[in-house]
Amino acid sequence: MAEINVDLTALPELTNPAFYPLYADRQRYLVLYGGAGSGKSVFAAQKLIVRTLAEPGHKFLIVRKVAKTLRHSTFALLRETIGSWGLGQLFRANKTDMELACPNGSAIIHAGLDDVEKLKSIHGVTGIWIEEASEITPEDFRQLDIRLRGRTKHYKQIILSFNPVSITHWLKEEFFDNPKPNATVLHTTYKDNRFLDEDSKQVLEAFRDTDEYYYTVYCLGQWGVLGRTVYNGKIVTERLIQAQHERPLMRGTFVYDYVGEQIVDESIRFVPDDNGPLKVWEPPQKGWPYVLGGDIAEGGLDWSTASVRNNVTLRQAATWRGQMDTDLYAKQMYCLGRWYNNALIGIETNFDLHPVKELERLGYRKQYVRETMDRYSGQVQEAFGFKTTKITRPVIIAKHVALAREHIDTFSDPVLLDEMLTFVRNEQGRPEAQDGKHDDMILADAICYEIRSQQTTQIVAPKPAKKELPFALQTEERKPSGWLEW
Ligand SMILES: Nc1ncnc2c1ncn2[C@@H]1O[C@H](COP(=O)(O)OP(=O)(O)O)[C@@H](O)[C@H]1O
Ligand SMILES: [Mg+2]
Repeated sequence: MAEINVDLTALPELTNPAFYPLYADRQRYLVLYGGAGSGKSVFAAQKLIVRTLAEPGHKFLIVRKVAKTLRHSTFALLRETIGSWGLGQLFRANKTDMELACPNGSAIIHAGLDDVEKLKSIHGVTGIWIEEASEITPEDFRQLDIRLRGRTKHYKQIILSFNPVSITHWLKEEFFDNPKPNATVLHTTYKDNRFLDEDSKQVLEAFRDTDEYYYTVYCLGQWGVLGRTVYNGKIVTERLIQAQHERPLMRGTFVYDYVGEQIVDESIRFVPDDNGPLKVWEPPQKGWPYVLGGDIAEGGLDWSTASVRNNVTLRQAATWRGQMDTDLYAKQMYCLGRWYNNALIGIETNFDLHPVKELERLGYRKQYVRETMDRYSGQVQEAFGFKTTKITRPVIIAKHVALAREHIDTFSDPVLLDEMLTFVRNEQGRPEAQDGKHDDMILADAICYEIRSQQTTQIVAPKPAKKELPFALQTEERKPSGWLEW
């Protein structure tokens, strides 16, 4: 097999100083942890490339939890580094299998821990890099550890790179609480990376003001404390204390009559009920635009919810929270939307399309429209309802968190504020309700706030209309004391 002689005298300039000594580190475990953008992944890739060239006959295995994340992370990084070092001639890349082979018999291969078949078929591994090691379980780690046994020509090393996502993570116990004599641990932050651009540094520093958890983990590179609330606890608590004294002006439910299968608008009535699902802080003001976001229960214990906001003042005008079959929920939303000047309605569609379809059937004319990709034709189409996905969920939550920080006075419902206080990060840093708590009111309100761009902010001057509202609320005889006239 061909020996390779590459001039790597430029290595010190190509490598961040904090990492440079680790080219020579031969410990079994090389633990690279700390903040984001500190150069951990780049160094792991660099060390693998250097060893691949200098030590013939290697078979390096790069793993992550999920196979499909490898292509655009580690595989792309290796090829980029090989390219920028001008070593393209020395590696043959098999893009399909994500393999890099060298004429000296060395190779770098990729596998996801979710690709059990592929993992089983791999033999003779001489070194491992576990990228984003915080994603894997201790069992995954033991299995990988076992794979790197037996005689090899060169020293055996497992590189682990990760952010310290949780102080209770098994990695902390494994390498920090019980330090191993055969492990080298290096802590770095973006300050150790002289190649990082200014914009990235600013993003990391900005977490100082916006998100304590992100600041701790990704900027400072210190163990994050999960279970910490996602919303600013102090601001939300102060508002909750106030809001508990601001009783809703109306509370109850809608009743209506049918002709055929259609609701008769003129028949819709509000029936006061101290335990009713609908709470109203601002009854509809003539001519003002409103937005309604809704979230349907996924299981027996969950609540179906809705939140209505005034699209000019942003004030939360009403909330709805109940346990009801989806068709009945949809009819309540119909009444609520009609009452609030034909509010824009956006209901979550992930679990159940029924409410969206039912509103359509009832002839509700102002539903939120999202764009979807037709799976077969690839064409963009429009559909009613809001879809919460891996991409949209963090975005609408982040916007809602910002709304709470900037305009907490627009939040009316103590139930919502209460949910915000028990909305925490799970083991992987994903925001969700604490065990035994709910987040359905948060989701409804976050959707409400997100979709408001499809509703006008114009106030239509009330005409001295011959015909009153599309229907008159016939609550005269049962008017609650706080009834607002308009
Ligand atoms: N040795 C290096 N040479 C050139 N650029 C580097 C180097 N190390 C890091 N970088 C730059 O810094 C960015 C962040 O480094 P990365 O290794 O991805 O950080 P981490 O894995 O710690 O989050 C990279 O995308 C790259 O642009
Ligand atoms: Mg990385």
